[in-house]
Amino acid sequence: MSRSRSGSALVVGMMSGTSADGIDVALVRIASRGTNRARSAQIENFATAPYPATLRDSILRVAEGERVTAGEISALNFRIGEEFARAALGALRRWRVRPKRVSAIGSHGQTIFHQGYAQGSRFSAPSTLQIGEPAVIAARTGITTIGDFRSADIAAGGQGAPLVPIVDFWLYGNPRVGRVALNIGGIANLTVLPADCSLRDVIAFDTGPGNMVIDALVRRATNGIQKFDRNARIATRGQMIPALLVRLLRDEYFLMPPPKTTGRERYGEAYVKNLLALPEARRASDSDLIRTATLLTALSIVDAMNRWVRPKAKISEMIVSGGGARNPLLMAQLAAALGDIRVIDSAELGVPSDAKEAFAFALLAWETMHRRPSNVPRATGARRPAILGKICYAPPGKI
Ligand SMILES: Nc1ncnc2c1ncn2[C@@H]1O[C@H](COP(=O)(O)OP(=O)(O)O)[C@@H](O)[C@H]1O
Ligand SMILES: [Mg+2]
Repeated sequence: MSRSRSGSALVVGMMSGTSADGIDVALVRIASRGTNRARSAQIENFATAPYPATLRDSILRVAEGERVTAGEISALNFRIGEEFARAALGALRRWRVRPKRVSAIGSHGQTIFHQGYAQGSRFSAPSTLQIGEPAVIAARTGITTIGDFRSADIAAGGQGAPLVPIVDFWLYGNPRVGRVALNIGGIANLTVLPADCSLRDVIAFDTGPGNMVIDALVRRATNGIQKFDRNARIATRGQMIPALLVRLLRDEYFLMPPPKTTGRERYGEAYVKNLLALPEARRASDSDLIRTATLLTALSIVDAMNRWVRPKAKISEMIVSGGGARNPLLMAQLAAALGDIRVIDSAELGVPSDAKEAFAFALLAWETMHRRPSNVPRATGARRPAILGKICYAPPGKI
């Protein structure tokens, strides 16, 4: 591993979440000797490489559970690997960082299936599939690449998600202040960090939809021309439909106790199709529906706080990351409904909200390179700690 004379290493973290909007690339400098791993790490640069539109469509179709052959999935795995490699090389070139100086890449890949627990006869074993072949990334970049982080946790009896909590613990754990770290991607998830907590006290779970339902409604309303409700422009023009909101909040997922995870299989196209067929949704305007979906996200997060978090821990701050942090209506609704909890953008505490998850996978890769476990058994339900990921070593010699 290359390490600079200053005793620090450069690691790239890459991530594409359930929104499948693009590949986030973070360049992270990690000090070798810091006592707190995340606090002695710094983001040096961050970029997002959007997926080509046709590739995104293929990903969404596969992730929605459309029938495809094993051959198509196999080809998609390698194609996305090329796309991740291109994203890394393009970003490094722009930042004038020679790949040789980078010690490792941690690549989450693209989730196309995730079922953290067995369900029915069709999915009789818990499983997860992140694609974007790390061997391709290592071959193209010449950088040792760690991928497939979730499988080791499932093999240890966990749900394979969420994996970011250990980084939240390093970043935000505080002796006096109880905090929650909330990431609003396609799905929203939170990590609970009571004041003065140890890793064993940390719980984390998916609250439900993040931007996924909003995005799907916007795509439908604009015939695919707009992919999301930029700055809540559409929702701001509409009015919330109370009966529809009440109906949507009566969701059995919200009642399930944590640990729990969810994804596109629950809140994807089929969910939106059902929503639009509800009597409460008929004749509603697009902007009314999108406003209602925005409130659904905000209030399902607040419901999770009231049901599962507040009875157990005193929380005074919520640190928000993910693309949803850029939705002003969502943030305002969240802050209003949470009352005395202060809502803070993660950038205020040093990690830009868009970069948080890519930053986290750089740190997880670093742990794996050092044979250290990084799942949080309490959060995933695993029976024991696990060293996450599979290592594809850099090819020998010049590439
Ligand atoms: N300016 C913005 N206004 C409203 N929503 C935004 C804005 N920027 C990003 N988003 C939302 O964030 C989503 C992407 O968030 P991201 O954290 O990348 O999710 P994921 O981890 O699922 O890829 C977009 O699909 C969109 O819904
Ligand atoms: Mg994204």
